[in-house]
Amino acid sequence: KNKILTDKFNRHHTYLRISLIDTCNLKCLYCHPEEGFIKQQQDKLLTAEEIIRLSKLFVSAGVNKIRFTGGEPLVRKEIDKIIEEVGKIKGIEKIGITTNGILLNRKLENMYKSGVNLFNISLDTLDPKKFMLITKRLGWERVMKSIEETLKLDNVKVKINCVVMKDLNDMEINDFVEMTRNKPVEIRFIEMMPFTGNKWSDQKFVSYQDMIKIIKEKFPTFEKYTEEEANNTSKTYHVPGFKGKIGFITSMSEHFCSSCNRLRITADGNIKVCLFDNAEVSLRDQIRNGATDEDLLKIINAAVLKKKASHAGMYEISKNENRPMILIGG
Ligand code: GTP
Ligand code: 5AD
Repeated sequence: KNKILTDKFNRHHTYLRISLIDTCNLKCLYCHPEEGFIKQQQDKLLTAEEIIRLSKLFVSAGVNKIRFTGGEPLVRKEIDKIIEEVGKIKGIEKIGITTNGILLNRKLENMYKSGVNLFNISLDTLDPKKFMLITKRLGWERVMKSIEETLKLDNVKVKINCVVMKDLNDMEINDFVEMTRNKPVEIRFIEMMPFTGNKWSDQKFVSYQDMIKIIKEKFPTFEKYTEEEANNTSKTYHVPGFKGKIGFITSMSEHFCSSCNRLRITADGNIKVCLFDNAEVSLRDQIRNGATDEDLLKIINAAVLKKKASHAGMYEISKNENRPMILIGG
């Protein structure tokens, strides 16, 4: 069983990220290219049935964690049904959602009942006005409310994803760290990554090393946290005595490809073996041509075997064409 979904570098892929939709109710400047750039492909989306079928197939091949992404996954109409069905699959241990939090409070109870236990919520600023500058939409209060409500649930992990950008929100880093004093939340500072249409430049980039310096000035005891999650995207730290933790996602300055255990399915049904690899293969077309599960597994494995040892560095990536982030889902 473990031979399936294992690549040439002996990485076992047990974590599947499924994008449910390629639209979002926010237009964050680091994710969504300017209006007009994006052509939505609603009719090309995988159907709920196709998503459930693929989830079962990947779990049968060894996946034990599925995370739903977008666009914004909660914008997808059939999300309740999809999560309910996926929650029933035998062998699945963790179900996650990565959301901007705008619609989360409304959906929270249903999702929790269906077995979602990993909630990653994006929040790049603690200032409602700046929220509008970054996301081009109102809604900061709703996101904060969703975070508060999610933190009340038992046996779930709540992480806040914060993309750090120079002169935009880097001056708020220590305010976010302060949030971990009394809240059992993990704040993750993410190095900004280049994607087509997001105007990445090294002028906007703040490295993990720079963030640590900023935090240590205010919190001198800030240190590495010893119990790291397996296959983590982030390096975990904390301020001793604080309830929460801090993570750094350092895809650009120190990639973590050697422990990568992820595969992705895009909203339009392609398998994507790396966030920064464009060699995608359509599973949707195969399904609609009548492929059996066995046929699909063959195609999936062939894609996995083409996965590279690691992705390129940030300057090279910034010159490559890749889907905009909204069409990948992180
Ligand atoms: P956990 O399940 O909590 O570990 O979540 P996660 O970190 O896998 O997922 P999330 O959707 O919260 O993504 C957080 C950040 O990590 C985003 O900026 C993603 O783009 C980035 N990320 C997720 N997966 C990968 C990956 O495979 N490679 C790289 N380089 N970055 C990734
Ligand atoms: N660089 C880094 N992180 C990004 N995200 C979206 N675009 C980028 C980018 N260009 C984050 C979102 C979300 C997660 C899925 O990916 O903030 O939390």
